[in-house]
Amino acid sequence: MKTATVKSLLLAGTLVLASGVQAEEKLSMTEADKAMYEEMLENNPADVYVAEGEELLESQIGGEAGLAKFLGVSEDDLYPYIAGFPRYIKSIGSVVALDQMIQAAQAANGKTPYKLKSPEMDSLSAYVKSLANGQKINIDVTADAHMKEMFELGKVTFETRRGGRGLACLSCHSADIVGSRLRMQILPDLGDPKVKAAGTWPAYRMTKGKMFTLQQRFQQCMNNALLAKIPLGSKDMVALEVYITNMAKGSEIAIPGLKR
Ligand code: HEC
Repeated sequence: MKTATVKSLLLAGTLVLASGVQAEEKLSMTEADKAMYEEMLENNPADVYVAEGEELLESQIGGEAGLAKFLGVSEDDLYPYIAGFPRYIKSIGSVVALDQMIQAAQAANGKTPYKLKSPEMDSLSAYVKSLANGQKINIDVTADAHMKEMFELGKVTFETRRGGRGLACLSCHSADIVGSRLRMQILPDLGDPKVKAAGTWPAYRMTKGKMFTLQQRFQQCMNNALLAKIPLGSKDMVALEVYITNMAKGSEIAIPGLKR
């Protein structure tokens, strides 16, 4: 498995970046991977989880109407509103990503909120985000003092070296080295409209055979690169989501994504 390669490479303490190589995504896949990718593009295995999420939205929150009511927006404005998360939600009192907003909406409907790390929440949050498919990410990091603070915190979290190997997210995802490679894998530019990172998660990862949320994907990079793992839904984690979502501002949301 290629993630293991990254890990052993880092354990060996040799972060070798072969720069100057054409940044063509397909090159990072084997022929077999490529064939699987083409096939799955037609029929993303995560579609079934998203479909489950539709039923959960109905039973937990009263469908789109219930969600719009909880958020205090008209049903017409619901999709673009969803495209602007993470946001500061007054009734919650903090900046939240979609999953924590959903927990609050469940509670408001007399339901027990799903855990952030649960198959139900994965499906429900993927479905809610997919309502904004075709919308452009419109996060506003200057909307209020809370968003400004979270953006700054996210930037610091992204740039701080927090691991045994002295790496930060920025060590691999920085403008001067993205497109170069760590062994066989291209280092993705998280703001690149072709990568559209924030607009494509929750996504199905072929190498793992499962769907993951954006925050769970961050944790996978933390594991691979031996960075201290930040808990899902924590302030630092939401801040990181704010920061990385802003990098992809303006790109179209397309859920569920399909990734290596
Ligand atoms: C050691 C280098 C390294 C570090 C450090 C690192 N990443 Fe990554 N990251 C990668 C590589 C390589 C990939 C692509 C893996 C692949 O193609 O499967 C990736 C993929 C991602 C993706 C998915 C992009 C997409 O395709 O949508 C996100 C999001 C991400 N990283 C965020 C982070 C965050 C946040 C941090 C810091 C907590 C971080 N990364 C730290 C190397 C790194």
